[in-house]
Amino acid sequence: MTDALTPAQQAPQSSAGTRRRFGKVAVIGAGFYGSTTAQRLAEYDIFETVVLTDIIEGRPEGLALDINQSRPIEGFETKVVGQTTKPGGEGYEAIADSSIVIITAGVPRKPGMSRMDLLETNAKIVREVAENIAKHAPSAVVIVVSNPLDEMTALTQIATGFPKNRVMGQAGMLDTARFSHFVAEELGVPIAAVRTLTLGSHGDTMVPVPSQCFVTIDGVRRPLVELLPAEKIEELVTRTRNGGGEIVALLKTGSAYFAPSAAAARMARAIAEDSGRILPVCAWVDGEYDIHGVYLGVEAEIGAEGVRRVVTTPLTDSELAALREAAAAVAAKQADVAHL
Ligand code: APR
Repeated sequence: MTDALTPAQQAPQSSAGTRRRFGKVAVIGAGFYGSTTAQRLAEYDIFETVVLTDIIEGRPEGLALDINQSRPIEGFETKVVGQTTKPGGEGYEAIADSSIVIITAGVPRKPGMSRMDLLETNAKIVREVAENIAKHAPSAVVIVVSNPLDEMTALTQIATGFPKNRVMGQAGMLDTARFSHFVAEELGVPIAAVRTLTLGSHGDTMVPVPSQCFVTIDGVRRPLVELLPAEKIEELVTRTRNGGGEIVALLKTGSAYFAPSAAAARMARAIAEDSGRILPVCAWVDGEYDIHGVYLGVEAEIGAEGVRRVVTTPLTDSELAALREAAAAVAAKQADVAHL
């Protein structure tokens, strides 16, 4: 009877009845970043519900309807629920019982702006959002993506009052992905052959770690430092560090969202599946690398409770010094966020 199937019926079959589903994940902010994140989460087809909220009346409902109408084509059962929220917090009931909440609310950069230029505006937004998350989804693990990332992650932990392992930020996966892309392009190798790593902050003090970067060529895993001259690696590092700004300058309005949403959705998936995957994230560091009491980009083992543990990696002396420098710079700024 296959000849009687419509194209929609021939789409990859979801296993609605048999697949283990992970309940509810919420995405706050239905702009470019939030809506693409919601779409990716829905297409994984592992959640019961993806909730998408925004303060712009009708926007999250409209986008949710649009994503839901792609279900027969893409073949996923997850439902997306859109909900407008009000400044007084009305509408946040929709995120009740979410096990994961991703904060994308906030304004993006304009050409020429640094992420720090967004600090005061986004701090107000993120604080309000975080307080509502604490009220309506008190057991959630929170992923922050709003910029400036390290500061907004610290602020979210303060405003929610959640344990530090249950609040993390997305930046390292994105920066690492950008670095990997540039390396693959430079060497003309498949992206799957490249493994890079960046640590530190999502900004000027990002710390790419060339000593932990490898490329597999003809089945042999080779250190990046043997494949490219130091000046070329430095050039790629600089392009990675400015990776977000390069896209902002090209777009003229708005900032990157395809690669960022891929990273945030993968983090959420690792939490939902309690996978134990080791991912570069912005996590609370207290003792690792002899760095104390700061949200910083590091590798961490991710599970249902958020960050299970920070994973340290062998660094060269100069990489370690750069990471400590980044920590000091970020710590100074994070110390002020409680007052914002
Ligand atoms: N509650 C919920 N949503 C809000 C709030 C709020 N208090 N304030 C603003 N928003 C929404 C806006 O209405 C908008 O729809 O956040 C959304 C932001 O979307 P975009 O302007 O498209 O920005 P986007 O590219 O999605 O970036 C969001 O991620 O990468 C960072 O720097 C970027 O901080 C920015 C964030």
